[in-house]
Amino acid sequence: MASIIIKGGNKLNGEVKISGSKNASLPIIAASILSGKKTTLFNVPDIHDTQVTLKILRYLGCKVYKNHDRIEINSKYIDKMEVPESLMREMRSTVILAGALLGRFREVTFSYPGGCDIGARPIDLHLKSFKKLGINIAEEYGFIRCSCDKIVGADIDLDFPSVGATENIILASVFAQGKTSITNAAREPEIVDLVNILNKMGARISGEGTNVIEIEGVTKLHEVKYRVMPDRIEAGTFLCAGAMAGGKITNARTEQLIPIISKLEEAGCQIEKDNTSVTLQAPKRLKAIEIKTMPYPGFPTDMQSIFGSMLSFAKGTSIITENIFENRFKYLQELKRMGAKSKQEGNVAIITGVKMLTGAKVKSTDLRGGAAMVLAGLKARGITEVTNIEYILRGYEGLETKLRKLGADINLVQE
Ligand code: EPZ
Repeated sequence: MASIIIKGGNKLNGEVKISGSKNASLPIIAASILSGKKTTLFNVPDIHDTQVTLKILRYLGCKVYKNHDRIEINSKYIDKMEVPESLMREMRSTVILAGALLGRFREVTFSYPGGCDIGARPIDLHLKSFKKLGINIAEEYGFIRCSCDKIVGADIDLDFPSVGATENIILASVFAQGKTSITNAAREPEIVDLVNILNKMGARISGEGTNVIEIEGVTKLHEVKYRVMPDRIEAGTFLCAGAMAGGKITNARTEQLIPIISKLEEAGCQIEKDNTSVTLQAPKRLKAIEIKTMPYPGFPTDMQSIFGSMLSFAKGTSIITENIFENRFKYLQELKRMGAKSKQEGNVAIITGVKMLTGAKVKSTDLRGGAAMVLAGLKARGITEVTNIEYILRGYEGLETKLRKLGADINLVQE
């Protein structure tokens, strides 16, 4: 088992290149299934989640070539429509492949994606939407078999603006007969990135980034070359690292960071931005603030634990309300081992800032909770060891290397 060891107290300074977006890459890799031709992608982060998704595409029959940040996928030779359970279990977001396989082959079999460390992660909205598109669904022994003769466009109103369900509906209805409309659609930038590549391939989709998305069915898609957007959550993570110890990031599109930037300014950070980079100057001590996680363009749930770590050092009491996932405060218990003060009442965390935390051996409770522990270690007095870092490796490309380049005393050690 590997762990990350940090000696706290170093000032961070310099610029960091943000990698491609994990949460845009996964649905975009799935979209390559639809064309039956070659899709060339740039700026896909080399992380566990993209590696698993490409492994599944190879299993299905795709030819996948990788060199540096260029990935070529030829989906002409797909001959399986079943996502292997072992790989589904490795990563729940592979459910996004279901929409793409249904869109092209009108059949797919996959196992229930397990819940994960932040919640039950049901897929009822995905399945209800598939049924609206005329897809038959049989559930037996933990497997879900979806099939139909043809996919017919429909009007779908989502009970909740689910990112994954919105993406799955789009992928399943690209070749549908007639028009599909999604109301109460998710508005996340990663969905806009998915629609951009699909329209570049010849799909006819509009309304992306708003809560009404329309998909006019087409009959074929063609080859495409596409560069994935930068990862706004990684960018936010480095902004918070800078807020805790001073730093500068480049290459993050600032319009997607507005909810994060405005909260950092409220906490006392000085931020200058242009359309490609953001420079943050941290105050001597951050001020307590109130945060409520919401669907985009609200404050992103993926930044909640990272802000919780940062606010553990702030002057005053911060209130964090988590409205998206039911179990996303587990990191608070680990922060308490470092001397942080907080209490949780349902989906609300009350964090009383302390001047300094003390290094300790703590564990990653989930992907973003792990990043939160690393950031706490950057600031805490003494040595912090973060274990279970396979969570972190799932979603961040070279987090410790990038932080070391900014001046952190940080190392990844294999046990
Ligand atoms: C995506 O997950 C992201 N993952 C998550 O990022 C992100 O936190 C989340 O969107 C919200 O922004 C990827 O894109 C791979 P949802 P997703 O469907 O699609 C409930 C990270 O750290 N729900 O918008 O699973 C669900 O339980 C990850 O990078 C249903 O009830 O999120 C949750 O409470 C974590 N039924 C809420 O909606 C459904 O059928 C939001 O889920 C689907 C979802």
